[in-house]
Amino acid sequence: MEQIDQLRRYGLFDASVPRFTSYPPANRFAKDTGARFYSTWLRAVPRGAEISVYVHIPFCKRLCWFCACRTQGAKGQSPVDAYINVVLREIALVARQLPDDVRMTRLYLGGGTPTILSPKTMTRLLTRLFDTFERARDFEFSVEIDPTEAAPEVIETLAFQGMNRASIGVQDFNPKVQDAIGRSQSYAQTHDCVERLRTAKVHSLNMDLLYGLPHQNAFSLVDTLDQVLALQPDRVALNGYAHVPWMSKRQIMIDSDALPSCETGFALSEMARQMLHLDGFSALGLDHFVRPGDNLILARQSGGLHRDFQGYTDDHADVLIGLGASAISRFAQGYVQNQPATTAYMSEIGAGCLAGSRGHAITAMERLTAQMIEHLLCRFALDADALTAQFPDQSAAVSDAVAELLATYPEACRRDGAGLCVQKGFAPLVGAMASHLDQYRTNHMAQTAAP
Ligand SMILES: C[S@@+](CC[C@H](N)C(=O)[O-])C[C@H]1O[C@@H](n2cnc3c(N)ncnc32)[C@H](O)[C@@H]1O
Ligand code: SF4
Repeated sequence: MEQIDQLRRYGLFDASVPRFTSYPPANRFAKDTGARFYSTWLRAVPRGAEISVYVHIPFCKRLCWFCACRTQGAKGQSPVDAYINVVLREIALVARQLPDDVRMTRLYLGGGTPTILSPKTMTRLLTRLFDTFERARDFEFSVEIDPTEAAPEVIETLAFQGMNRASIGVQDFNPKVQDAIGRSQSYAQTHDCVERLRTAKVHSLNMDLLYGLPHQNAFSLVDTLDQVLALQPDRVALNGYAHVPWMSKRQIMIDSDALPSCETGFALSEMARQMLHLDGFSALGLDHFVRPGDNLILARQSGGLHRDFQGYTDDHADVLIGLGASAISRFAQGYVQNQPATTAYMSEIGAGCLAGSRGHAITAMERLTAQMIEHLLCRFALDADALTAQFPDQSAAVSDAVAELLATYPEACRRDGAGLCVQKGFAPLVGAMASHLDQYRTNHMAQTAAP
């Protein structure tokens, strides 16, 4: 049987498989959990803990049709400034509940388009964050950058404030593809933005690319990759386009007849992988590509590679504080998501309350499942010894999961000690395997809960 047929049979193109940037995924969060536990969980953060901070900026000057991110149009600066005033208030509210000696190890500005902030507003936001949270020695500061909305003064401000990683949205350079996704961005604009970032000494540049976009084909993708490689990024994130018009209303503007089939999309992604490989990139996890010596490779070697809302990361903080509308915080006890609607978020904070609206208190079984899923996505393996050492009371569940995956995916996995590893050529299946573990645990829990 052709490998593609085997992958299909095992569920590679199953649209219900989540991206597993958290476990449980955010669509399982329940109403009210957020509001109920947020304050308690903040106050339970240990003294001296390391935290990461994510700030969501839900504004863009343009609204690309393909985009599934939580964002909205903003024509002038005043709604953006008003929003940042509220985020400053939220920083104070959250910090009041945290121990005063936490240290910030990572700061991410995402969106939307963080570079929509004026230099003055950006400086206010960053000054407040740095005054509130002392930076750890290995502090890193990353920003999502839209090259068409990145004024030189904003880049200079960010670099002056310590930005050392930038993630640049490219998606595809082909004009026909760009027309079909409602996003216009020339190579020259992207080149200028890269130059500006390098001049400002921001040395780690990631570029986001998508496969499976309308009208994309092998020729257009080769051209895009040639142009991307000419810009010499340090990292590339190559993700499949998620066409979910029922969730992301703007996507109805996209002609679904122009979308490549799943099989063509997969072939495009394989071709892109090969081009990146030939250019010296190493594949990392499902969708990241990095240069030799990248921190993420070192993290993978030492077992310190994780998957979070930003994708693959070497962030080792146990606590993530999400600030802004729809932002998600992660604690040892579970997840809290802020009010997704900007107005609701602003009115809650304006009233002096935390804005957590949904969330999930994680159970012992889910904590194990989360770890097993992270093993699959980051290591392409289940290291049963490591899992059992971490969860000594749940060694039977680990063995069950290993047996279950070996039985369900006999050609795709092989036993490795008490655990398993994913066979060469079957790496794209780890999402489906993770989903299977999720399903298995859900059923298992349902069975054990039954009277
Ligand atoms: C916040 S967005 C983009 C940042 C910046 N505003 C820009 O336009 O360059 C971050 C990334 O999410 C990814 N993304 C957005 N919508 C997506 C979709 N429908 N499917 C897959 N990835 C998507 C894109 O690759 C994008 O670069
Ligand atoms: S891709 Fe970027 S600029 Fe376009 S709508 Fe999404 S967040 Fe805004």
